[in-house]
Amino acid sequence: MPKQDIISISDFSKDELEAILEASFKMEEEVNAKGSLDLLRGKILASLFFEPSTRTRFSFEAAMFKLGGQVVSATGVNFSSMAKGETLEDTIKTIERYADVIVIRHPELGSAKIAAGAAKIPVVNAGDGPGDHPTQAFLDFYTIKKEKKTIEGLKIAMVGDLKYGRTMHSTIQLLSLYNDVKFYLVSPEELKTPSKYLENVADYEETEDLKSVLPEVDVLYMTRIQKERFAEEADYLRLKDSFILNKSLLANAKNDMIIMHPLPRVNEIATDVDEDRRAKYFDQVENGLYVRMALLAFVLGKIDIRKLSLRANGERGNLLNNG
Ligand code: NCD
Repeated sequence: MPKQDIISISDFSKDELEAILEASFKMEEEVNAKGSLDLLRGKILASLFFEPSTRTRFSFEAAMFKLGGQVVSATGVNFSSMAKGETLEDTIKTIERYADVIVIRHPELGSAKIAAGAAKIPVVNAGDGPGDHPTQAFLDFYTIKKEKKTIEGLKIAMVGDLKYGRTMHSTIQLLSLYNDVKFYLVSPEELKTPSKYLENVADYEETEDLKSVLPEVDVLYMTRIQKERFAEEADYLRLKDSFILNKSLLANAKNDMIIMHPLPRVNEIATDVDEDRRAKYFDQVENGLYVRMALLAFVLGKIDIRKLSLRANGERGNLLNNG
């Protein structure tokens, strides 16, 4: 069996995505019923974050502990011998001698793929610069499925920095596998979605006018303008307040719309929105735990995708491969 990495959403079939979704729901049930599981006892996760992170790192590490595994972790560019000039490949070839799976966040586009190429153990992309963030897409998928029950037929507004926002790139690719999904891509002209992420998107409209699309949408996905990706600070300062969601703007939105954000927010959602029952961004944070439990179990061979698709077809069985 080839090792299973998670580098980009495009590496997955729709059946695989749905199987992992099913396993994530199962993880939530198990955590609620038992607190933790024993599925990854004896396994070690190496958590390598060369860029800032709160949710992604904590949720991966907590997920590993919840599954009975352990974590070796390091953060920041100065933590490792990379600061002495070691290549990413050599760092990975070293760390894999101590671990069973690597989760990596790195500022360079394509870095996770390079790491996966160097490693004999599974590598999970936790964000490669302005590229992809596939595990965020899984948790966004989970959140929408939980809240709206179906993806088909939804009208989804993606708002903010669509050029550099990697969560958008991965989430658009995932959701566009479903029929009849309409995307409103709301961004300043300079921060439009790179065309490579739209190749398979059947129905989208690009606009700068959030107010006029708001009454149409079922899912409103806000994002931060990605300050750290700008070459010129002046450009960031000019664009940073392009879209701000507040209570009064929400007056025009559907009652059953949901508001999402991968977080961290800067000021694109006013805090008076947090108490609105449509606000789901802190629920996304929690969902990330269950999804990352499923993803770690999957790359370490503890989830049987075939059994999961049997279950999706109405047959019940033991989803988790405890052996
Ligand atoms: C995002 C990221 O790092 O890409 N955060 C996250 O992982 N939840 C979004 C961002 O930094 O704006």
